[in-house]
Amino acid sequence: MSWTTIDRELCTQCGICVTRCPMNYREVEGAIESCASGATCNLCGHCVALCPTGAITHHEMDMENFVDIPGGMPVDFEGFKRFVRERRSHRIFEDREVPGEHLEKLADLCRYSPTGSNRQTVQITFLRDRDRIRRLSDHTVDFFERHIDELERKARENEAAGRDLPQTTRSALTLIDTLKRVVAARKFGMEVIFHRAPVVMLFHSPVETSTPKDDCVIASTIVTLAARALSLETCYIGLFEFVANRYGPVVEELNLPVGHKVFSILVLGYPRLKFLRTVDRKPMKVRWL
Ligand SMILES: Cc1cc2nc3c(=O)[nH]c(=O)nc-3n(C[C@H](O)[C@H](O)[C@H](O)COP(=O)(O)O)c2cc1C
Repeated sequence: MSWTTIDRELCTQCGICVTRCPMNYREVEGAIESCASGATCNLCGHCVALCPTGAITHHEMDMENFVDIPGGMPVDFEGFKRFVRERRSHRIFEDREVPGEHLEKLADLCRYSPTGSNRQTVQITFLRDRDRIRRLSDHTVDFFERHIDELERKARENEAAGRDLPQTTRSALTLIDTLKRVVAARKFGMEVIFHRAPVVMLFHSPVETSTPKDDCVIASTIVTLAARALSLETCYIGLFEFVANRYGPVVEELNLPVGHKVFSILVLGYPRLKFLRTVDRKPMKVRWL
């Protein structure tokens, strides 16, 4: 049986489903037939969402979750631009817990972000235990402390031998001054990995999916914007990504599902500082071909 069925009473044979998805809908002797299956349908839901008369039922999806769109745009361009321009990375937070309902809302919102081939494999781990967050921060700085020397040595040896460095090592080397600052900062009692935030959000996915990094970053980026509508602010923590997926004590502590890697990290909380101005940015370099 097809994953979708068409209510003959409601179908006007307008053909929109065929136009959008000729893999799963076709016109046979004046009537539209559906032939959706796991081999041809990636559960995008477009056929149901486009049908003008609501004639299509998708049996693999929750039909209750297809909600009528009232029409018109909920935001205008200038409003959205303001929202994007006024987002800032926040690293100083109030000593206040974030209600679980807010975190649940943000996690639920991520369901609606797009994923490569509509795989929807992104998962979120929330860290809220301050001791655990502190421990993970310490492990991260320990890792950097040990690896700075090793990285520099590898770079020297490879240069002397005229060998190219692996890409991950080259990326790490561009960060070496930052890593040194992070190690020095701990000596002054600073917490420069998670910035003493009350919440850390890890976006992870099985590595073996279509576009795991993109999917996680898109979801986390939606959170950076949506959180602001709940008076919360965020900061990406790329420094932790490198460590989360390779340093034994951290891997053990995170205990991610088998085959998963962390691809994006945010800290989140109520900001203590209020930005009064937007900031300047370099002009966007654009090519028109
Ligand atoms: C992918 C990515 C990784 C980042 N990693 C860190 C990080 O590890 N620690 C940190 O404090 N800020 C981090 N940031 C924040 C950037 O430093 C910040 O976005 C940049 O300076 C611009 O400032 P703004 O976000 O306020 O516009 C990261 C940002 C991005 C996009």
